[in-house]
Amino acid sequence: MKNSVKASVGIITGSGFDAFFKQAEAVRVDTPFGDPAPISITDIAGRKVAILARHGSNHGNPPHRINYRANIFTMYILGVKQILATNAVGAINRKLKPGKLVVPHDFVDFTKLRHNTFYDSAPVIHIDMSEPYCPEIRRALVLASEKHSEDICKKAVLVCTEGPRFETPAEISLFRSLACDIVGMTSLPEVVLARELSICYASLCCVSNMASGLQPAQGVDDLTMVADRKRVAMEQVLKEAISLLPSLRSCICATAVKDTTLQRLERYAKGIPFNNRRLQSL
Ligand code: HPA
Repeated sequence: MKNSVKASVGIITGSGFDAFFKQAEAVRVDTPFGDPAPISITDIAGRKVAILARHGSNHGNPPHRINYRANIFTMYILGVKQILATNAVGAINRKLKPGKLVVPHDFVDFTKLRHNTFYDSAPVIHIDMSEPYCPEIRRALVLASEKHSEDICKKAVLVCTEGPRFETPAEISLFRSLACDIVGMTSLPEVVLARELSICYASLCCVSNMASGLQPAQGVDDLTMVADRKRVAMEQVLKEAISLLPSLRSCICATAVKDTTLQRLERYAKGIPFNNRRLQSL
């Protein structure tokens, strides 16, 4: 593994955040999990930032086919310690309306078919999820939104569905009864995989629609229109948030994994041959 390019912050976006990529330099990274989405490095607020559009170029990769492990492992190899993600979501909580920005603090995982861990074999690792989204990045996102006069919901439970279809009204009623506020298809397993590598992760969500059963059926174009309208504001918030991130982390995520497995992954990131047969065959 030859990779001398480094970044300390990562941004994982949905589609359309092209402005970030304009001045950025494309880099290629190999991972034991296959190919990541195209990734580039740029400078924001004095930090080296790795940016990745999870659906690939031209939105070619649907949520259930994204190689989440390759994407997060790429960030890890580049040295990223803090990831800011964006996600489009539907509102389950009726108080949230299209165009609202939301910073979730917790999730419910209703995905079904995704590779959702780096720890598939011995040693057995059960990562703590009592505070799944990084409190330090969430704080930076909230402060940055307020600074840009963006109306922000500071706390919400996100439910992640498998997709690519939207939910039924009955599913949304169920999720509401489980105290979920927003529904999306892409936060899981990103948030878990990041924590499994001790990388901080938080998400800036944009409500693009009321969830199924709460408004007349909408086409993807209607949802995209809301996301397009909020894109510049979201880019500004992300940039501001990066300037507010602590460079020394004191959150729970930084020390989530401290054992031989992480040391082995670190050796791989440094270019030392990778001996975990199980991981290689995945
Ligand atoms: N459901 C799931 N994912 C979504 C939605 C939704 O209503 N809106 C945007 N992403």
